[in-house]
Amino acid sequence: MDQDQLYQCELRGSEFAAIRTLVLESTGISLSESKRELVKRRFSPRLRALGLDSFTDYIEYVKQNFDQESSHFCNAITTNLTSFFRESHHYDFLEQVVLPAWLKQGRGRKLRIWSAGCSTGQEAYCLAITVLKMIPDAHQRDIRILATDLDENCLAKARRGAYEVREFEKLPQSMINEYFERDHVMVKSMKRDAYMANDHLKALITFNKLNLVQSWPMHGQFDVIFCRNVFIYFDKPTQEKILKHFSTYQVPGAHLCLGHSETVPGAAAIGYELIGKTTYLRKGG
Ligand SMILES: C[S@@+](CC[C@H](N)C(=O)[O-])C[C@H]1O[C@@H](n2cnc3c(N)ncnc32)[C@H](O)[C@@H]1O
Repeated sequence: MDQDQLYQCELRGSEFAAIRTLVLESTGISLSESKRELVKRRFSPRLRALGLDSFTDYIEYVKQNFDQESSHFCNAITTNLTSFFRESHHYDFLEQVVLPAWLKQGRGRKLRIWSAGCSTGQEAYCLAITVLKMIPDAHQRDIRILATDLDENCLAKARRGAYEVREFEKLPQSMINEYFERDHVMVKSMKRDAYMANDHLKALITFNKLNLVQSWPMHGQFDVIFCRNVFIYFDKPTQEKILKHFSTYQVPGAHLCLGHSETVPGAAAIGYELIGKTTYLRKGG
């Protein structure tokens, strides 16, 4: 049994309801009834760190100090599971369709890719690898990858770009040699072998904090948006709202990739045509 399980605070029904509302309002994440244990487990360490005895006290604390507490609050509830080349068909689509078409259009055009909900960064690094594979001189061109997430702990790990060796099991050694360097990471106070993304990969990517349910600071358009395994945490109205927001950042001909279990019924009305496995084309008009 680990420390977090030892020190769990009681979570009454009314407290769970209040936490669900706060989570929905601040992150868009819609927690079902079945997530009560998860809420208890995820937030109990924070109550302990603040020296609070009950969820009622914590809820009051969050309401009174939201600006200070919001990072801890949001970081506690996000689910950050990710991996290198997860749902690899989207990278194949980039390599076989999007990047060749972009290359055909000639030098001088911008290429902008956004990993929205990038978690600890593996998705963004895989995007950069795919780009460099097809466009070895990408650094000399106007190519940028934006990677954003709500969770600041994830972003810190993403910026460092170091991952335990076991995460690389499915990657060919030649790819590891080309894009990563030997490194170490600390896991529960233990030093573990790791690989860290090299400067070539890092130079293409900008990691920033961005909450998808709040305003977005970027200007300009994205040729490709990867927003995978993020919509599953949102209810349908929130999904449609974000999809509409995406559509204002994409011109006709651009692409959007969602996660394997994510279908948005209103996508066609918003201007996204499903053209492949969870792959959408931004239509005109
Ligand atoms: C399961 S991970 C998906 C990571 C990656 N896209 C993938 O498919 O492997 C979901 C990510 O969405 C982020 N997230 C959840 N709600 C968010 C919000 N409102 N704004 C931005 N990111 C959010 C979480 O912090 C988490 O890192």
